[in-house]
Amino acid sequence: MNAPSCTQTAVLILLGPPGAGKGTQSRALERAFGLIQLSTGDMLRAAVKAGTPAGKAAKAVMEAGGLVSDEIVLGVLAERMSQPDTGRGVILDGFPRTLAQAEALDDLLALRGQCVGAVVSMEVDDETMVARVAGRFTCATCGEGYHETLKPAKMAGTCDICGGTDFTRRADDNAETARARLATYRQQTAPLIGHYEQTGVLMRLDAMQDIAAVSRDLVRMVEPVIRKGRSGGM
Ligand code: AP5
Repeated sequence: MNAPSCTQTAVLILLGPPGAGKGTQSRALERAFGLIQLSTGDMLRAAVKAGTPAGKAAKAVMEAGGLVSDEIVLGVLAERMSQPDTGRGVILDGFPRTLAQAEALDDLLALRGQCVGAVVSMEVDDETMVARVAGRFTCATCGEGYHETLKPAKMAGTCDICGGTDFTRRADDNAETARARLATYRQQTAPLIGHYEQTGVLMRLDAMQDIAAVSRDLVRMVEPVIRKGRSGGM
């Protein structure tokens, strides 16, 4: 890989269609390396729940499986990136999703003396993606993700991580919206694979394997990038 030279901490991007495992693997990387997961989907869902102006504007678009405007997404991301805990390095989960967002990210990172260290393209087939999204549920207390058959809780009804007993399902996790989200991904986000291939930071990951195997391969791929970033020269 021929990554551009820049200084400072690790900035990793997990790129992939709905259900590729971006959220699941971001949390695994957080635990393995102490990085911070920044999910624009989670930030937007929090804004919808809080009824902020950004959330009100985003709600209908998210329920239809489209993309929220770059302006809104960049606003919530930039605000989160300005917090000090992001200094150890971040995993961007679900961002960028358009070329304009990728360019805005480069500008934002340049102001911090950073650049994108690695972009991992998580590759899954369409049927798998729909099955994963349809069976997903999340711990309402700590946000740990589960799946009815692929990743059930060890004790039914109790979160493995925090012991919470309340679980939620996303409004956009139904077959119809999942198909719309996939179409949006192909049209607007998949072109970023070629973009990052050209900039020399793209890695491809077989995300059809089970969760542990994907984690193992992902850690092996990104570990050198994280170490290099922390030693001050990416
Ligand atoms: P977002 O929340 O980012 O959703 P998404 O990209 O559709 O991705 P998902 O969260 O559905 O999937 P994932 O890849 O994280 O999979 P997970 O790990 O959960 O975005 C939602 C909406 O917000 C968008 O549609 C858009 O409207 C808006 N938005 C967000 N960011 C935006 C941006 N930058 N610009 C504009 N709009 C934006 O796994 C899924 C399930 O599968 C889980 O149950 C899990 O347990 C299971 N699983 C995971 N990996 C495996 C495996 N290897 N084997 C078996 N099961 C697995």
